[in-house]
Amino acid sequence: MTNRERIDCLAENAALPHAELRRLLLEHSPAEAELLFARARTTRERVYGKAVWLRGLIEFSSYCKNDCYYCGLRRSNAKAERYRLTAEEIYACCANGWALGFRTFVLQSGEDPWFTDARLCEIVAEIRRRWPDCAITLSLGERSRESYAALRTAGAERYLLRHETANAAHYARLHPAELRLASRMDCLLELRTLGYQVGCGFMVGSPGQDVDCLLDDLEFLCAFRPQMVGIGPFLPHGETPFAQEAPGTLEQTLFLLGVIRLLLPGVLLPATTALGTVHPLGREKGLLAGANIVMPNLSPVGVRKKYLLYDNKICTGEEAAECRLCLQRRVESVGYFIESARGDAAGWGTDGVF
Ligand code: 5AD
Ligand code: FES
Repeated sequence: MTNRERIDCLAENAALPHAELRRLLLEHSPAEAELLFARARTTRERVYGKAVWLRGLIEFSSYCKNDCYYCGLRRSNAKAERYRLTAEEIYACCANGWALGFRTFVLQSGEDPWFTDARLCEIVAEIRRRWPDCAITLSLGERSRESYAALRTAGAERYLLRHETANAAHYARLHPAELRLASRMDCLLELRTLGYQVGCGFMVGSPGQDVDCLLDDLEFLCAFRPQMVGIGPFLPHGETPFAQEAPGTLEQTLFLLGVIRLLLPGVLLPATTALGTVHPLGREKGLLAGANIVMPNLSPVGVRKKYLLYDNKICTGEEAAECRLCLQRRVESVGYFIESARGDAAGWGTDGVF
Protein backbone atom coordinates (compact mmCIF):
# COMPACT_ATOMS: atom_id res chain seq x y z
CA MET A 1 0.00 0.00 0.00
CA THR A 2 1.07 3.59 -0.59
CA ASN A 3 0.47 6.19 2.09
CA ARG A 4 -2.34 7.65 -0.01
CA GLU A 5 -4.01 4.26 -0.11
CA ARG A 6 -3.53 3.89 3.63
CA ILE A 7 -5.17 7.25 4.29
CA ASP A 8 -8.06 6.41 1.97
CA CYS A 9 -8.50 3.07 3.68
CA LEU A 10 -8.62 4.81 7.06
CA ALA A 11 -11.17 7.31 5.79
CA GLU A 12 -13.40 4.66 4.19
CA ASN A 13 -13.22 1.93 6.81
CA ALA A 14 -12.27 3.69 10.06
CA ALA A 15 -9.62 0.99 10.31
CA LEU A 16 -6.23 0.04 8.90
CA PRO A 17 -4.23 -3.17 9.37
CA HIS A 18 -1.63 -2.82 12.11
CA ALA A 19 1.41 -3.13 9.83
CA GLU A 20 0.04 -0.53 7.42
CA LEU A 21 -0.76 1.91 10.22
CA ARG A 22 2.77 1.38 11.53
CA ARG A 23 4.27 2.30 8.18
CA LEU A 24 2.04 5.36 7.87
CA LEU A 25 3.02 6.63 11.32
CA LEU A 26 6.71 5.97 10.76
CA GLU A 27 7.08 7.80 7.49
CA HIS A 28 4.95 10.29 5.62
CA SER A 29 5.52 13.45 3.61
CA PRO A 30 4.01 16.86 4.43
CA ALA A 31 1.71 16.44 1.40
CA GLU A 32 0.48 13.12 2.76
CA ALA A 33 -0.15 14.74 6.13
CA GLU A 34 -2.24 17.39 4.36
CA LEU A 35 -4.24 14.65 2.65
CA LEU A 36 -4.87 13.01 6.02
CA PHE A 37 -6.05 16.32 7.48
CA ALA A 38 -8.39 16.93 4.53
CA ARG A 39 -9.94 13.48 5.02
CA ALA A 40 -10.19 14.08 8.79
CA ARG A 41 -11.98 17.40 8.16
CA THR A 42 -14.43 15.73 5.80
CA THR A 43 -15.22 13.11 8.43
CA ARG A 44 -15.51 15.67 11.22
CA GLU A 45 -17.81 17.85 9.12
CA ARG A 46 -19.94 14.85 8.17
CA VAL A 47 -20.53 14.05 11.86
CA TYR A 48 -20.38 17.48 13.52
CA GLY A 49 -20.57 20.08 10.75
CA LYS A 50 -18.45 23.15 11.31
CA ALA A 51 -19.34 23.56 14.98
CA VAL A 52 -16.73 23.69 17.73
CA TRP A 53 -17.85 23.14 21.31
CA LEU A 54 -16.51 24.81 24.42
CA ARG A 55 -15.39 23.19 27.64
CA GLY A 56 -14.72 25.61 30.48
CA LEU A 57 -11.81 24.35 32.53
CA ILE A 58 -11.80 25.11 36.27
CA GLU A 59 -8.48 24.07 37.83
CA PHE A 60 -9.64 24.02 41.42
CA SER A 61 -6.70 22.41 43.27
CA SER A 62 -3.01 22.18 42.46
CA TYR A 63 -2.27 19.74 45.29
CA CYS A 64 -1.34 16.28 44.11
CA LYS A 65 -0.37 13.17 46.01
CA ASN A 66 1.17 11.58 42.93
CA ASP A 67 4.67 11.93 41.57
CA CYS A 68 4.37 11.43 37.80
CA TYR A 69 7.76 12.14 36.26
CA TYR A 70 6.38 14.50 33.60
CA CYS A 71 4.05 16.73 35.58
CA GLY A 72 4.85 20.04 37.25
CA LEU A 73 2.22 19.40 39.95
CA ARG A 74 4.03 16.26 41.17
CA ARG A 75 4.32 16.08 44.95
CA SER A 76 8.12 16.24 44.83
CA ASN A 77 8.05 19.64 43.19
CA ALA A 78 8.60 21.73 46.32
CA LYS A 79 8.66 24.89 44.22
CA ALA A 80 5.10 24.45 42.99
CA GLU A 81 2.74 26.89 44.68
CA ARG A 82 -0.28 25.00 45.91
CA TYR A 83 -3.81 26.35 46.13
CA ARG A 84 -7.36 25.20 46.56
CA LEU A 85 -10.38 27.15 45.38
CA THR A 86 -13.27 27.39 47.82
CA ALA A 87 -16.66 26.10 46.77
CA GLU A 88 -17.86 29.67 46.34
CA GLU A 89 -14.85 30.47 44.14
CA ILE A 90 -15.68 27.47 41.98
CA TYR A 91 -19.31 28.61 41.64
CA ALA A 92 -18.09 32.09 40.70
CA CYS A 93 -16.07 30.50 37.85
CA CYS A 94 -19.21 28.69 36.71
CA ALA A 95 -21.32 31.86 36.87
CA ASN A 96 -18.74 33.73 34.83
CA GLY A 97 -18.52 30.83 32.36
CA TRP A 98 -22.29 30.54 32.05
CA ALA A 99 -22.54 34.23 31.18
CA LEU A 100 -19.86 33.72 28.53
CA GLY A 101 -21.83 30.91 26.89
CA PHE A 102 -20.16 27.87 28.44
CA ARG A 103 -22.47 24.89 28.90
CA THR A 104 -19.88 22.40 30.07
CA PHE A 105 -17.76 22.88 33.17
CA VAL A 106 -14.71 20.71 33.65
CA LEU A 107 -13.59 20.50 37.27
CA GLN A 108 -9.96 19.49 37.21
CA SER A 109 -7.40 19.05 39.99
CA GLY A 110 -4.38 17.09 41.04
CA GLU A 111 -5.15 14.01 43.10
CA ASP A 112 -5.97 15.95 46.25
CA PRO A 113 -7.31 13.89 49.18
CA TRP A 114 -8.56 17.06 50.91
CA PHE A 115 -11.37 16.96 48.40
CA THR A 116 -13.23 14.04 49.94
CA ASP A 117 -16.27 12.53 48.30
CA ALA A 118 -18.50 14.52 50.66
CA ARG A 119 -16.89 17.84 49.72
CA LEU A 120 -16.85 17.08 46.00
CA CYS A 121 -20.40 15.74 45.92
CA GLU A 122 -21.66 18.88 47.60
CA ILE A 123 -19.95 21.03 44.98
CA VAL A 124 -21.20 18.93 42.07
CA ALA A 125 -24.75 18.89 43.44
CA GLU A 126 -24.71 22.65 43.96
CA ILE A 127 -23.49 23.29 40.39
CA ARG A 128 -26.21 20.95 39.13
CA ARG A 129 -28.77 22.86 41.22
CA ARG A 130 -27.66 26.32 40.10
CA TRP A 131 -27.09 25.50 36.42
CA PRO A 132 -29.39 22.57 35.69
CA ASP A 133 -28.73 22.66 31.96
CA CYS A 134 -24.95 22.46 32.08
CA ALA A 135 -22.85 19.36 31.65
CA ILE A 136 -20.50 18.63 34.55
CA THR A 137 -17.24 16.95 33.70
CA LEU A 138 -14.77 15.79 36.32
CA SER A 139 -11.03 15.29 35.87
CA LEU A 140 -9.75 14.29 39.31
CA GLY A 141 -7.54 11.32 38.54
CA GLU A 142 -7.90 7.87 40.04
CA ARG A 143 -10.53 7.39 42.73
CA SER A 144 -12.49 4.45 44.12
CA ARG A 145 -15.52 3.00 42.43
CA GLU A 146 -17.62 4.25 45.36
CA SER A 147 -16.31 7.74 44.82
CA TYR A 148 -17.02 7.70 41.09
CA ALA A 149 -20.50 6.33 41.83
CA ALA A 150 -21.27 9.00 44.44
CA LEU A 151 -20.12 11.77 42.13
CA ARG A 152 -22.21 10.37 39.29
CA THR A 153 -25.26 10.35 41.56
CA ALA A 154 -24.48 13.91 42.64
CA GLY A 155 -24.78 15.00 39.02
CA ALA A 156 -21.47 14.55 37.19
CA GLU A 157 -21.96 13.04 33.75
CA ARG A 158 -18.55 13.00 32.15
CA TYR A 159 -15.06 12.09 33.33
CA LEU A 160 -11.68 12.77 31.78
CA LEU A 161 -8.88 10.43 32.76
CA ARG A 162 -6.06 10.18 30.30
CA HIS A 163 -4.65 6.69 30.11
CA GLU A 164 -1.25 8.38 29.34
CA THR A 165 0.05 5.32 27.47
CA ALA A 166 -1.50 1.92 26.82
CA ASN A 167 1.89 0.21 26.98
CA ALA A 168 2.72 -1.09 30.48
CA ALA A 169 6.51 -0.74 30.09
CA HIS A 170 6.09 2.81 28.84
CA TYR A 171 3.66 3.56 31.68
CA ALA A 172 6.40 2.48 34.10
CA ARG A 173 8.84 4.83 32.39
CA LEU A 174 6.50 7.78 33.02
CA HIS A 175 5.33 6.97 36.54
CA PRO A 176 6.70 5.72 39.85
CA ALA A 177 6.01 2.09 40.70
CA GLU A 178 2.96 2.86 42.88
CA LEU A 179 1.07 3.95 39.77
CA ARG A 180 0.04 1.13 37.50
CA LEU A 181 -1.50 0.98 34.06
CA ALA A 182 -3.87 -1.76 35.23
CA SER A 183 -5.33 0.55 37.91
CA ARG A 184 -5.79 3.31 35.37
CA MET A 185 -7.58 0.93 33.03
CA ASP A 186 -9.77 -0.35 35.89
CA CYS A 187 -10.80 3.23 36.63
CA LEU A 188 -11.72 3.83 33.00
CA LEU A 189 -13.85 0.69 32.96
CA GLU A 190 -15.57 1.61 36.24
CA LEU A 191 -16.38 5.06 34.88
CA ARG A 192 -17.84 3.56 31.74
CA THR A 193 -19.92 1.07 33.75
CA LEU A 194 -21.29 3.85 35.93
CA GLY A 195 -22.65 5.60 32.85
CA TYR A 196 -20.15 8.41 32.51
CA GLN A 197 -19.20 9.72 29.10
CA VAL A 198 -15.52 8.96 29.30
CA GLY A 199 -12.49 10.74 27.92
CA CYS A 200 -9.04 9.21 27.82
CA GLY A 201 -5.88 10.25 26.00
CA PHE A 202 -2.13 10.52 26.03
CA MET A 203 0.82 12.83 25.53
CA VAL A 204 2.55 12.81 22.16
CA GLY A 205 6.34 12.52 22.22
CA SER A 206 6.67 11.65 25.90
CA PRO A 207 10.05 10.17 26.87
CA GLY A 208 10.40 6.57 25.75
CA GLN A 209 7.38 6.68 23.46
CA ASP A 210 8.02 4.86 20.18
CA VAL A 211 5.79 3.96 17.29
CA ASP A 212 4.74 0.72 18.96
CA CYS A 213 3.58 2.61 22.04
CA LEU A 214 1.47 4.81 19.78
CA LEU A 215 0.04 1.76 18.04
CA ASP A 216 -0.89 0.37 21.46
CA ASP A 217 -2.62 3.67 22.22
CA LEU A 218 -4.57 3.64 18.97
CA GLU A 219 -5.51 0.00 19.39
CA PHE A 220 -6.74 0.73 22.91
CA LEU A 221 -8.80 3.69 21.68
CA CYS A 222 -10.44 1.53 19.00
CA ALA A 223 -11.28 -1.16 21.55
CA PHE A 224 -12.44 1.14 24.37
CA ARG A 225 -14.24 3.65 22.16
CA PRO A 226 -14.18 6.63 24.52
CA GLN A 227 -16.46 9.61 23.94
CA MET A 228 -13.47 11.96 24.02
CA VAL A 229 -9.75 11.65 23.35
CA GLY A 230 -7.43 14.35 24.70
CA ILE A 231 -3.98 14.42 23.20
CA GLY A 232 -1.29 17.07 23.29
CA PRO A 233 2.45 17.23 22.95
CA PHE A 234 4.57 16.34 25.96
CA LEU A 235 6.23 19.56 27.16
CA PRO A 236 9.02 19.49 29.73
CA HIS A 237 8.68 21.16 33.12
CA GLY A 238 11.93 22.44 34.64
CA GLU A 239 11.26 21.05 38.12
CA THR A 240 10.61 17.46 37.05
CA PRO A 241 12.88 14.51 36.22
CA PHE A 242 12.02 15.11 32.56
CA ALA A 243 13.29 18.70 32.57
CA GLN A 244 15.91 17.98 29.91
CA GLU A 245 13.75 15.80 27.67
CA ALA A 246 12.79 16.94 24.19
CA PRO A 247 9.20 18.15 23.74
CA GLY A 248 6.69 16.41 21.51
CA THR A 249 6.21 18.05 18.13
CA LEU A 250 3.36 19.94 16.55
CA GLU A 251 3.58 17.78 13.43
CA GLN A 252 3.30 14.45 15.21
CA THR A 253 0.41 15.65 17.38
CA LEU A 254 -1.51 16.93 14.37
CA PHE A 255 -0.91 13.71 12.48
CA LEU A 256 -2.26 11.67 15.39
CA LEU A 257 -5.30 13.94 15.68
CA GLY A 258 -6.05 13.21 12.03
CA VAL A 259 -5.60 9.48 12.48
CA ILE A 260 -7.81 9.41 15.60
CA ARG A 261 -10.57 11.38 13.83
CA LEU A 262 -10.61 8.75 11.06
CA LEU A 263 -10.44 5.77 13.43
CA LEU A 264 -13.22 7.15 15.68
CA PRO A 265 -15.33 9.40 13.44
CA GLY A 266 -17.73 10.55 16.18
CA VAL A 267 -15.20 11.12 18.95
CA LEU A 268 -14.84 14.49 20.66
CA LEU A 269 -11.33 15.71 20.02
CA PRO A 270 -10.00 18.82 21.76
CA ALA A 271 -7.40 21.15 20.32
CA THR A 272 -5.55 21.29 23.63
CA THR A 273 -3.75 24.04 25.51
CA ALA A 274 -0.50 22.05 25.13
CA LEU A 275 -0.97 22.18 21.36
CA GLY A 276 -1.42 25.94 21.61
CA THR A 277 1.73 26.12 23.71
CA VAL A 278 3.98 24.20 21.32
CA HIS A 279 3.03 26.51 18.43
CA PRO A 280 1.17 29.86 18.41
CA LEU A 281 -1.31 28.50 15.85
CA GLY A 282 -1.34 24.99 17.28
CA ARG A 283 -5.03 24.96 18.21
CA GLU A 284 -6.11 26.32 14.81
CA LYS A 285 -4.02 23.66 13.11
CA GLY A 286 -5.54 21.08 15.44
CA LEU A 287 -9.03 22.09 14.33
CA LEU A 288 -7.90 21.73 10.72
CA ALA A 289 -6.57 18.24 11.49
CA GLY A 290 -9.89 16.97 12.87
CA ALA A 291 -10.33 18.47 16.37
CA ASN A 292 -13.77 19.85 17.30
CA ILE A 293 -13.46 21.03 20.92
CA VAL A 294 -11.63 23.87 22.64
CA MET A 295 -11.17 24.09 26.39
CA PRO A 296 -10.58 27.65 27.55
CA ASN A 297 -9.63 28.28 31.12
CA LEU A 298 -12.22 29.61 33.59
CA SER A 299 -9.92 29.53 36.62
CA PRO A 300 -9.34 32.84 38.43
CA VAL A 301 -6.32 34.61 36.91
CA GLY A 302 -4.70 34.77 40.35
CA VAL A 303 -4.14 31.00 40.47
CA ARG A 304 -3.43 30.21 36.84
CA LYS A 305 0.35 30.40 37.07
CA LYS A 306 0.17 27.90 39.93
CA TYR A 307 -1.37 25.18 37.77
CA LEU A 308 1.65 24.54 35.61
CA LEU A 309 1.79 21.00 34.28
CA TYR A 310 4.59 22.12 31.92
CA ASP A 311 6.64 25.25 31.25
CA ASN A 312 5.43 28.20 29.13
CA LYS A 313 1.75 27.27 29.41
CA ILE A 314 -0.39 29.78 27.51
CA CYS A 315 -3.39 31.73 28.85
CA THR A 316 -2.03 32.11 32.37
CA GLY A 317 -2.51 35.90 32.34
CA GLU A 318 -5.82 36.24 30.52
CA GLU A 319 -9.28 36.55 32.02
CA ALA A 320 -11.87 33.97 31.02
CA ALA A 321 -13.65 36.51 28.84
CA GLU A 322 -10.42 37.27 26.99
CA CYS A 323 -9.74 33.59 26.31
CA ARG A 324 -13.32 33.12 25.16
CA LEU A 325 -13.01 35.97 22.64
CA CYS A 326 -9.51 34.95 21.60
CA LEU A 327 -10.67 31.42 20.91
CA GLN A 328 -13.73 32.60 19.05
CA ARG A 329 -11.48 34.59 16.72
CA ARG A 330 -9.17 31.63 16.31
CA VAL A 331 -12.00 29.19 15.59
CA GLU A 332 -13.56 31.57 13.07
CA SER A 333 -10.20 32.21 11.39
CA VAL A 334 -10.20 28.60 10.17
CA GLY A 335 -13.82 28.59 8.99
CA TYR A 336 -15.53 27.06 12.02
CA PHE A 337 -17.85 28.56 14.63
CA ILE A 338 -18.34 28.12 18.36
CA GLU A 339 -21.56 26.46 19.39
CA SER A 340 -22.77 27.38 22.85
CA ALA A 341 -24.25 24.02 23.80
CA ARG A 342 -23.41 21.04 25.95
CA GLY A 343 -21.90 19.21 22.98
CA ASP A 344 -22.40 15.56 23.85
CA ALA A 345 -20.62 13.01 21.68
CA ALA A 346 -22.48 12.12 18.49
CA GLY A 347 -24.80 9.21 19.16
CA TRP A 348 -24.76 9.66 22.95
CA GLY A 349 -28.16 8.86 24.37
CA THR A 350 -29.26 7.10 21.18
CA ASP A 351 -27.89 3.81 19.96
CA GLY A 352 -24.34 5.03 19.91
CA VAL A 353 -23.98 4.58 16.16
CA PHE A 354 -22.22 7.48 14.51
N1 5AD B 1 3.34 18.00 29.11
C1 5AD B 1 2.17 17.81 28.46
N2 5AD B 1 1.07 17.32 29.06
C2 5AD B 1 1.15 17.06 30.37
N3 5AD B 1 0.24 16.55 31.22
C3 5AD B 1 0.80 16.48 32.44
N4 5AD B 1 2.07 16.91 32.40
C4 5AD B 1 2.31 17.26 31.12
C5 5AD B 1 3.45 17.74 30.43
N5 5AD B 1 4.61 17.94 31.07
C6 5AD B 1 -1.08 16.09 30.78
C7 5AD B 1 -1.30 14.65 31.22
C8 5AD B 1 -2.46 14.76 32.17
C9 5AD B 1 -3.15 16.03 31.72
C10 5AD B 1 -4.01 16.67 32.74
O1 5AD B 1 -2.08 16.87 31.37
O2 5AD B 1 -1.63 13.85 30.09
O3 5AD B 1 -3.34 13.66 32.12
FE1 FES C 1 -6.47 32.31 26.26
FE2 FES C 1 -6.08 32.91 23.59
S1 FES C 1 -7.20 31.31 24.50
S2 FES C 1 -5.58 34.09 25.37
